Amino acid sequence: MEGGNLLEVRGLSKIFDGFAAVSEVTLAIAAGEIAAVIGPNGAGKSTLFNLITGHVRPTSGQVLLGGRDITGMPPHRISGIGIGRSFQRANIFSRLTVFENVQAALLSHRGCGRDFWSRSETFYREEARALLDSTGLLGQAQAIAGTLSYGNQKQIELGIALAGDPKILLLDEPTAGMSAAETRETLALLKRIARERSLTLLFTEHDMEFVFSIAQKIAVMHQGRIVVEGSPATIRADAEVRRIYLGSVQ
Ligand SMILES: Nc1ncnc2c1ncn2[C@@H]1O[C@H](COP(=O)(O)OP(=O)(O)OP(=O)(O)O)[C@@H](O)[C@H]1O
Ligand SMILES: [Mg+2]
Repeated sequence: MEGGNLLEVRGLSKIFDGFAAVSEVTLAIAAGEIAAVIGPNGAGKSTLFNLITGHVRPTSGQVLLGGRDITGMPPHRISGIGIGRSFQRANIFSRLTVFENVQAALLSHRGCGRDFWSRSETFYREEARALLDSTGLLGQAQAIAGTLSYGNQKQIELGIALAGDPKILLLDEPTAGMSAAETRETLALLKRIARERSLTLLFTEHDMEFVFSIAQKIAVMHQGRIVVEGSPATIRADAEVRRIYLGSVQ
């Protein structure tokens, strides 16, 4: 693997009708690293994630996974080779049960395989239960996903993303819309899952307490560009970052 970096973004730009939403972004994430991209609304964070996962085509620049150029690949291929993601708003099948949501994700990643002739409810039963267990949802396996709290729906989304056994997981505002209690639970859950699975995480987040308690590296975006990048201590002390974004965060 090139230089030990799992994910590399090189000079990535996206121009929408003459407007540079992402501009010359260069970023490297090492295997096992937990990295955050922060910045004000409209800074280009979600667009950057969409460029990495193939949901938006870059105007220029490159995305590499394990040294392999994946620029311009369609989203399903990118997810198939190891980049999982969650969205800013929970993206689940709200009429299916919690179990069926995770089971469907396992089926879509691994196919029917030998299970083709078994009854559909038994497909990947053990794997699905293990995923629900690790995301804290086993007790609600038979509940209809859409009836659960928003925090639980985001947990389902996490289970769906993990079903693809990603090398790196991109989380776009994992605590958006959550109560303070749900935010704390999500933080604990992500810390545990990252540790258990040696996951590499790249996330965006507006909750600075969350960012500073989990990220090992922080990149600050402003008007499409990364203006500063460094350790939490570096970012906290940076005058430019304080001016752009952190304001009174201590
Ligand atoms: N499909 C699109 N067409 C045109 N402009 C877009 C498109 N997607 C995003 N933009 C613009 O690009 C800029 C960056 O948007 P983006 O959603 O990436 O910001 P963000 O940092 O994720 O913001 P937030 O913190 O509010 O989620 C915004 O000005 C947005 O209006
Ligand atoms: Mg966004």
